[in-house]
Amino acid sequence: MAHLIAPSMLSADFGNLQRDTELVNQSNADWFHVDIMDGVFVPNISFGFPVVKSLYKHAQKPLDVHLMIVQPERYIKEFKDAGAAVLTIHLEASTHLHRSLNQIRKEGMKAGVALNPHSPVHLLEDIITECDLVCLMSVNPGFGGQSFIEHTYDKIRQLKALINKKQSHCLIEIDGGVTLENAPSLLEAGADVLVAGNTVFGAEDPKSVIAQLKSSSPAHTKG
Ligand code: DX5
Ligand code: ZN
Repeated sequence: MAHLIAPSMLSADFGNLQRDTELVNQSNADWFHVDIMDGVFVPNISFGFPVVKSLYKHAQKPLDVHLMIVQPERYIKEFKDAGAAVLTIHLEASTHLHRSLNQIRKEGMKAGVALNPHSPVHLLEDIITECDLVCLMSVNPGFGGQSFIEHTYDKIRQLKALINKKQSHCLIEIDGGVTLENAPSLLEAGADVLVAGNTVFGAEDPKSVIAQLKSSSPAHTKG
């Protein structure tokens, strides 16, 4: 499968959200990555339902919604109604992950689990077959523009092995500090979806950066 690119709208210009949404529509991007932060699970607050709904109104590609909130099961239906196609919740925020993932699927969305940098991949052993996507956080969640944590490469390889062992079809998404430089090594390690905020929206020509990320090919040397 060709890898997917999901620009993170956290780094968009909120004063020009429609313009930046159009930019992504017209680019080679596959998804919109939408970060929801509650100021409790992470030390930052981003935006809520009204903004997601406006984005959905203009977006011509699926919304990949990443919930960085406590007790995410409270809002599964609301995010479906707001337009989410993929809904990712944090393992660290969910007491009944199995139930929540199945609720997400029942609502007709793809179900994702995100792992903070400190959470080992083996914690997914008994849940991987219920996941459509695993989001490996390659920064501590809460802010865009942070530096990539190198240990993520090992986690991608471990996750790939677990997915193969359990014959799961789940996608591996990498979120945080993705750049044009590390994209080839991430793909080589097994990444399927690259999220990029600052790399895209901090660039002079975001569409060209998206195109470059999309046409990146796996590095031959391991990262
Ligand atoms: C971080 C968010 C990321 C963030 C990525 O908590 O989950 O999606 O927007 O931003 P960059 O690509 O700038 O690290
Ligand atoms: Zn995210």
